[in-house]
Amino acid sequence: MAIQFKDVSFSYKGIKAEQYEAIKNINLNIDEGEFIAICGKTGSGKSTLVQHMNALLEPTKGEVCIFEHTLSKKRKQKISPIRKRVGLVFQFPEYQLFEETVLKDIMFGPKNFGLTNEEAKEKALKAAELVGLKEELLEKSPFRISGGQMRRVAIAGILAMEPDILVLDEPTRGLDPQGSKEVMKLFYDLYDRHNKTIILVSHDMDIIAKYAKRVIVMDDGCIVFDGKKEDLYCHSDFDTFSLAKPKTIELMEYLNKEINIPFKYLFNEEEVIKYLKEVTHE
Ligand SMILES: Nc1ncnc2c1ncn2[C@@H]1O[C@H](COP(=O)(O)OP(=O)(O)OP(=O)(O)O)[C@@H](O)[C@H]1O
Ligand SMILES: [Mg+2]
Repeated sequence: MAIQFKDVSFSYKGIKAEQYEAIKNINLNIDEGEFIAICGKTGSGKSTLVQHMNALLEPTKGEVCIFEHTLSKKRKQKISPIRKRVGLVFQFPEYQLFEETVLKDIMFGPKNFGLTNEEAKEKALKAAELVGLKEELLEKSPFRISGGQMRRVAIAGILAMEPDILVLDEPTRGLDPQGSKEVMKLFYDLYDRHNKTIILVSHDMDIIAKYAKRVIVMDDGCIVFDGKKEDLYCHSDFDTFSLAKPKTIELMEYLNKEINIPFKYLFNEEEVIKYLKEVTHE
C-alpha cells in the first residue's frame, strides 16, 4: 500500500477558534501504479484531502500512512523523505513558487534533497523540457510569467524531484486547450511507461473519463463514491453527485436515442470511432 487514510478528519481553525471540519472520517487505500481522479463540487474537500498525501496537512483525527511513515496528531514525522516520494502540484501554483528565477525554482527540490548544483540543474532542465517550458523563460522571475507558464513551472519543480507518486490538484487549470492536452499526455505517459502513481483532482469530466481508471467523488467532506470509472456513470446516486457526464457518454446516449445505436460506455474519441465503425459495418 502506498497511501492509506484511516478514519481521517481535518478541521481548519477559524479566526475566533471555531473549527470547520473539511474532511470527515475518510478511509482510503491507494496502491502504487494507480491512476485515480478525485472530483466533486467546489468546497467538497478535495484539496484538503490531497494535501494530506504529502504531509502538507496533518490529520486532526485518525492516521495517514504514506509508505512506511505514519502521520497523526500524536506522531510527528520527518517530512522530507515523504516529500521526496510524493510530489504535490498545488491548485494555485503561485503559492508554490518563490525563487528568484524559474530555473532556480525548479532546481530547489532536487537541491534540497542533497544533489549538487550541477546535478540539480540537469534534472531541472530535463523537467523544464518535459513540460514544454521555453529556455528564454528560465531566467525570468516566476512571478513575471503567465498563469499557464506558472503552472508548468510548478509541475516541472515536482517532476525534477522524480517522485513515485504525483498528486496534481487541478493541473490543467489556466492552461489553453493544447497545453492542457500536452500536460495530460505527459502525466499519462509517466503513469503508463514510467509506473508513476497519479492522483488527479479535476472538475473536467472529459479528462477524467479519458485518463483515470478509478474515480473518487467527494461531497461535503466525505467520499460518496470510490470505484472503477466504468461504474460511476451507472451508479444509482450519480444524479446527486452534480457531475457532468463526459462528452463521449452524452454522444453515445444521443446516438442511441436518435438512431438506435446500441449504447455502450466509451471514454474517448478513438473508442467511439472504433465502435461506430464496428456497429455500422454489421
Ligand atoms: N485555509 C482554510 N481555512 C479555513 N477553511 C478552509 C481553508 N481551506 C479550505 N477551507 C474550507 O474547507 C472546505 C473544503 O475546501 P477544499 O479547498 O478542500 O475544497 P475543494 O473541494 O478543493 O474545492 P475547489 O473545487 O473549489 O478547489 C471548504 O468549505 C473551504 O471553505
Ligand atoms: Mg481545491
